[in-house]
Amino acid sequence: MSAIQIQKGVYWVGAVDWNVRSFHGHTFNTKRGSTYNAYLIVDEKIALIDSVYGPFSKELIANISEIVSPEKIDYMVVNHVETDHSGAVPEIMKLCPKARVIGTEKCKLGMNRNYYGNWDWQTVKSGDKISLGKNNLVFLEAPMLHWPDSMFTYIPELQLLMPNDAFGQHIATSKRFDDEIDPYELMDEAAAYYANILLPFSPLVIRKIEEVVKMGIPIGMIAPSHGIIWRKDPMKIINAYLKWAKNETKAKVVIAYETMWKSTEIMAKRIGDGIASTGVQVIIANISEKDNTDIIKEMLNAKGILIGSSTHGNDMLPRLAGFLSFLKDMKPKGRVGAAFGSYGWAGGAAKKIEEKLSETGIEVIQPLIQCQFVPDKAEMQKLFEYGAAFGNKVK
Ligand code: FEO
Repeated sequence: MSAIQIQKGVYWVGAVDWNVRSFHGHTFNTKRGSTYNAYLIVDEKIALIDSVYGPFSKELIANISEIVSPEKIDYMVVNHVETDHSGAVPEIMKLCPKARVIGTEKCKLGMNRNYYGNWDWQTVKSGDKISLGKNNLVFLEAPMLHWPDSMFTYIPELQLLMPNDAFGQHIATSKRFDDEIDPYELMDEAAAYYANILLPFSPLVIRKIEEVVKMGIPIGMIAPSHGIIWRKDPMKIINAYLKWAKNETKAKVVIAYETMWKSTEIMAKRIGDGIASTGVQVIIANISEKDNTDIIKEMLNAKGILIGSSTHGNDMLPRLAGFLSFLKDMKPKGRVGAAFGSYGWAGGAAKKIEEKLSETGIEVIQPLIQCQFVPDKAEMQKLFEYGAAFGNKVK
């Protein structure tokens, strides 16, 4: 996609990745693709804020060239070292070798270990400023949002915040702004992004937003490094982040399970019937069939999490084990949960799930629900009653 002016003298010069379907080592399924957003600031001095993933270098350079010759770039600002944003920096620096690279101390370390470039560096800390002429670049360190090197760049004269990964979404589209796309699709992808990337860093998200509010800096536009730019209502995504970071949930239960011969699936659906009978929303997801990124997103606002598996080798099935390992890494807070599962000759899956849920910090509700082979009529009734009791617990 061609360069587009997003404010006077500020241009989106990034790339749209229509085809990417997995991110971060297959931990994030990007079903709508993504974008790598880079921003060119044209003033008396010229700054490029972030770059794009390496294979998209030519698109970045073509977009910059529509506005200015890349040799004229004075500052290459690297808000974050991860290669989806820094991958094209070596190609840019070949075109403007005298440009100064700007980033945090940790960013410099990470860039050196990735690219071994002999570049002129200026490391910056929160509050440091670089004048471009009419506009200033002000830097704000944002460690662990989401890497230790991360920082935000702010232009006070334009009320423009460029926070790199924060407030992003994985959406490939020809549109660039929040008022140009379907609001449900936008918030759905923003929630998936938060739940699968930023949730573990929630205390830091709250602290950073409070810090920005205390600084009293007006924010008229948020231009993240993935997806859509927030210009119509930047507070919408800030308030959503505050809600998600506080682990605010509602009366909703997600049942995630893996099944061998459908017995655990029968259990999941019957427990779900019981939950639904209380008026509580329930989502039932087979982790082998449903997009795992979507299941984690559904858990973002769910008070209850029920996990089930068939028993295999006295343990849960392996895909579910991987799913629970990822859920633990996401550090959800304030949830209640329970384990269930079927077995043939010896149990074990439900007990192992229960242990994993406890390690995740989820309050586990007893008792374990287990069935040998296929649940009979009396067990089906018990499963329904268990679901109803669990539904009442999360109300
Ligand atoms: Fe942390 Fe979009 O890279």
